Amino acid sequence: MLIASPWRADFPAIAALQRQDQVYLDSAATTQKPQALIDALAHYYSNGAANVHRAQHLPGAHATQAFEDSRSKVGQWLNAGNSGPIVFTHGATSALNLLAYGLEAVFQPGDEIVISALEHHANLLPWQQLAQRRGLRLVVLPISASGLVDLDAARQLIGPRTRLLALSQLSNVLGAWQPLPDLLALARSFNALTVVDGAQGVVHGRHDVQALGCDFYVFSSHKLYGPDGVGVLYGRHAAFSQLRHWQFGGEMVLDADYQQARFRPAPLGFEAGTPPIAGVIGLGATLDYLAGLDQLAVSAHEAALHAHLLQGLQVRKGIRLLGEPQLALASFIVDDVHNADLAHLLTEQGIAVRAGHHCAMPLMKQLGLAGAIRVSLGLYNDSDDLERFFEALDQALELLR
Ligand SMILES: Cc1ncc(COP(=O)(O)O)c(C=O)c1O
Repeated sequence: MLIASPWRADFPAIAALQRQDQVYLDSAATTQKPQALIDALAHYYSNGAANVHRAQHLPGAHATQAFEDSRSKVGQWLNAGNSGPIVFTHGATSALNLLAYGLEAVFQPGDEIVISALEHHANLLPWQQLAQRRGLRLVVLPISASGLVDLDAARQLIGPRTRLLALSQLSNVLGAWQPLPDLLALARSFNALTVVDGAQGVVHGRHDVQALGCDFYVFSSHKLYGPDGVGVLYGRHAAFSQLRHWQFGGEMVLDADYQQARFRPAPLGFEAGTPPIAGVIGLGATLDYLAGLDQLAVSAHEAALHAHLLQGLQVRKGIRLLGEPQLALASFIVDDVHNADLAHLLTEQGIAVRAGHHCAMPLMKQLGLAGAIRVSLGLYNDSDDLERFFEALDQALELLR
């Protein structure tokens, strides 16, 4: 069955990669970019770059307007409404580090931070470091064989000592949507703060942070077909008010003397220094592009392609999928074959997949694996890409076995 992508031509890099005989199947690491974004960056840089929120001149006013328009577009994308500010960071990682520093004063020694066993290092290490600094306990929720956080275990482990719950929406290794509404509600019932790592989840479908009921939601633009170097931190007003300023410098200040200063509230108070202006404007253009797509067609395409990927892996002998991936990606190992050898041969054949621990070392250790191969899909992929991958996989396995 042929699964074509009606959006493939919108991403010029896909054709460029094809000319280099490359098949790009690593969109969970970062995505290729739509022409609409490339045009927006070219327009900004060709028509007058300017710093935002400080200059009176016309280029400054234009840049500030475009920058703030992007903030509104992100708010709409997440359906944040008036529930809380959108802060631009440099990525999901920097947003999570901002939280782990900014919330430090909220914790008392002995409090608990709860995460899950499948978190990306970005949603583990900042909390681990905070726990070490403040004498907190880091509690790890176990996951089931299908890659979901175990709700029964969560009911045992989340309790009155839980001060914060931080979970990813969609695992970058196991591709499973977490039962977040239940887990977040459980944490809220103990007045714990809730953080959602939307780095992978934000890419699939429109989101509603108000319906989700989280205090904070973070993502990186580059995984959502936008520019790199830009991240988003959304937070409910009440949660943001607990966050201490964490980086200090230009534009975040209300008033400064040599010995004292007063700082702006969010969002600007949490965007010290010159932000990634072009990137933020580019993210706005990317969201315009994505908002113009038929969301049902996008979801149907993603589902069909993912089913094709799973089927192709499942019919091949000796391939073991990790968990039960629901969309976007699949990670696997092959009996008696080292993932690095397989990755090497796939690379030689122009197949761009990811191999290794996927920045989730504790999860890999728990699964007893040194690493795995991950195939991840984007809007632009089609079934021909997967057929080329399967062909290369068969040839590689023939050589390795
Ligand atoms: C689930 C998850 N969280 C966080 C991150 C960190 O994103 P970034 O490196 O863009 O900050 C990633 C990146 O792969 C991810 O997959």
